[in-house]
Amino acid sequence: MIIPAAQHVHTLLASYPDFPQPGILFRDLNPVFADAVAFRAIIDDLSERYRGQFDAVAGIEARGFLLAAGIGYAAQCAVLAVRKGGKLPGTVLTEEYDLEYGSARLELEVGQLPAGSRVLIVDDVLATGGTVAATARLIERAGYLTIGVGVVLELAELDGRSRIGDAPVHTIVSV
Ligand code: PRP
Repeated sequence: MIIPAAQHVHTLLASYPDFPQPGILFRDLNPVFADAVAFRAIIDDLSERYRGQFDAVAGIEARGFLLAAGIGYAAQCAVLAVRKGGKLPGTVLTEEYDLEYGSARLELEVGQLPAGSRVLIVDDVLATGGTVAATARLIERAGYLTIGVGVVLELAELDGRSRIGDAPVHTIVSV
């Protein structure tokens, strides 16, 4: 029997109150990644949703990297690493963004793909949407096109979708 990706996520998702700060309920998807069948199910789900629509997948540090690697392999497409500030060499684009807790910046190396390349953005969690929105700005400034966003878990009450713009957003589970 094939278990849908959403059911794997519901079963394996762990929640930690007051981490990393008081008042934050931290959603931990590492148990999903650590289950071979569940991991394959979420990679297949995200890949299939946008099949044939993207030339590259952009994973956001840190857990987005795990997703992007799997999708890149499954779809045989290019993989971009969108990194936290100060970790990339050469000419980089930078975007500041607000987090559910604190603020940060994301960076992307320029010139990795042909202009106009179609990019799928992936991450583990969509909370306030600041991280994905900053990534979409990096993709646009680099000369590429964001064709969609794929995340494993959406925290719907934070309404992150409203910050992302026009690109379609696919989430496996919304809580
Ligand atoms: C978490 C999560 C997303 C982001 C979502 O990462 O993995 O990338 O927050 O938040 P937002 O929608 O409110 O912007 P975090 O910044 O904690 O970094 P990490 O992946 O390095 O732990």
